[in-house]
Amino acid sequence: RVAGTDDLAKVEFKPVAPNKRDAVVVADGFDHDVVMRWGDPVLADAPEFDVYQQTPEAAAKQFGYNNDYVGVLPLGKSATEALLVCNHEYTNENMMYPTGKYTSAQIKQLSMAYHGMSVVQITRGLVPGSWAQSSDLSKAVYNRRITATTPFQLTGPAVGDERLKTKQDKFGAIVKGTFANCAGGLTPWGTVLSGEENFNGYFDKSGSLDSRYTAQYARYGITGSGSRGWSEIDSRFDLSIEPHEVHRFGWIVEVDPLKPNEAPKKHTMLGRFKHEGANVVIAKDKRVVVYMGDDERGDYMYKFVSAGTFDPANTAKARAKNKLLLDKGTLYVAKFTGNGTADSKYDGTGQWIPLTSDTQSFVDGMSVNDVLIFTRLAADKVGPTKMDRPEDVDINPVNGKVYAALTNNSNRGNATTPVDEANPLSTSMVRSALGQPLTSASGNRNGYILELTADGDDHTATTFGWDLMLVCGDPSAPETYFAGFDKSKVSPISCPDNVAFDSLGNLWIATDGNVLGSNDGLFRVAVEGANRGQVQQFVTMPKNAETCGPFITDNNRSLFFAVQHPGESDTATFETPTSTWPHSDDFPRPAVCVAFRKR
Ligand code: FEO
Ligand code: CA
Ligand code: CA
Ligand code: CA
Repeated sequence: RVAGTDDLAKVEFKPVAPNKRDAVVVADGFDHDVVMRWGDPVLADAPEFDVYQQTPEAAAKQFGYNNDYVGVLPLGKSATEALLVCNHEYTNENMMYPTGKYTSAQIKQLSMAYHGMSVVQITRGLVPGSWAQSSDLSKAVYNRRITATTPFQLTGPAVGDERLKTKQDKFGAIVKGTFANCAGGLTPWGTVLSGEENFNGYFDKSGSLDSRYTAQYARYGITGSGSRGWSEIDSRFDLSIEPHEVHRFGWIVEVDPLKPNEAPKKHTMLGRFKHEGANVVIAKDKRVVVYMGDDERGDYMYKFVSAGTFDPANTAKARAKNKLLLDKGTLYVAKFTGNGTADSKYDGTGQWIPLTSDTQSFVDGMSVNDVLIFTRLAADKVGPTKMDRPEDVDINPVNGKVYAALTNNSNRGNATTPVDEANPLSTSMVRSALGQPLTSASGNRNGYILELTADGDDHTATTFGWDLMLVCGDPSAPETYFAGFDKSKVSPISCPDNVAFDSLGNLWIATDGNVLGSNDGLFRVAVEGANRGQVQQFVTMPKNAETCGPFITDNNRSLFFAVQHPGESDTATFETPTSTWPHSDDFPRPAVCVAFRKR
């Protein structure tokens, strides 16, 4: 037995040094296992993965590509079984298919099947904190694959709206599939929320765009220049033929892992934008509050407050009732006001501006459905704060504060996104163009962690306080800030994306797109006490991989994380990969891992 605690919240560890290895490197004293890889069988009748014999039928039964969100739900009372729920955000076609092996149409069918989500039963391993896929798939009755063609039920006020009706769905109520699913969150009633993010890139056009939606398409980056070519096999992806299909993406979806035969939902009440993810907290009065980010340069942070209250009873009836909570309530967008920098802090107060309830719009000239389907345009009218790409927004279970990852913004400082106290750094390119002094080379290329405190510790309150807890980057750069912690004792960190908490309230940050020159990784950060702001790297990723998840469970003994797009490169081919991680094959396979104390 290796000495030391196996509690990831308490353990003292030597931070992993930044590196460019093609490996997952975890802190000394810890191990990691690969739990699920692209292609591993999910359903009992799935064939073993053979990269040269891929079929859409097999793909729809195997673990999808580019795992992003990771959630783990205990299964039953045994404490040895759990359900792993993952998103499969997108595909890297140039790295997945042997050159010349599959036709263009086959590649599209395969890729549609490798998108979506997976539910996989996992079993505790022999080493405490370790987990592996449950070996008898015939008994894994909850295992499930959701793809780009699985039927979803639209719910909430906008169901049946004319603009959600298509030739294939005359009622505007059933949508085929989900894709571009980025982060997500567990609900208190045991379901999983997942954000449809860069959906615009899946739609192309054979002719012109529908002139009724010129402004709406433009605000969502829907240009018809999507490069996936899915319209080749299904015309709903051709905007010239089907102008409304694109309105049926960009939602928060909800999957009930315990109901494998129930259609997952798309929640219109949570608004439509490039949803990064969604995290839920129960307020003091038992209403539920959902925090969400719209990941685009200069876009907004949102929250939803339910009309109904959470029923904690452990009954089927209470659960069914709780599953309706996201259909009625009020959607808000955030405005941040700085209190000036004379206090040497980036901080201030904020306001949640109501956009619409399920019955009444608060935006001039827009109906409830207008606000929900074209949320970005509604928000533009009420003066919220343009942020530096809001990614995960999550609630600390210990101190009740909300932490948002603002990953970076290459446009900050230009005319449309001027600097403000919540978004203080403009890029060097912008500053140079404006003739402003360059205090460092980085600007906001490395991102922030923003901390919000609901007034009265009440998540339903419409006012809050905030501060920039971390200004990420190389600690030796003058603009970086680690909540006042000694900068000589922190790990460099760049481009925070997903956040999570252990049971003691430490913040865990996964990064996407490290611009400091090393691989991405996963960091632990204390948010309270003498070590507040101590950023320590716990894991580094293989080459060209983004860190996703993370999820801490099992009394802080298990750290799940997703290794997304190892080896991603525009110039790589299947035959000439830039990574072969996890080194089980001669091509890379995105995978979910679990880290735990070595024994
Ligand atoms: Fe898919 Fe916003 O990261
Ligand atoms: Ca201030
Ligand atoms: Ca993300
Ligand atoms: Ca990202």
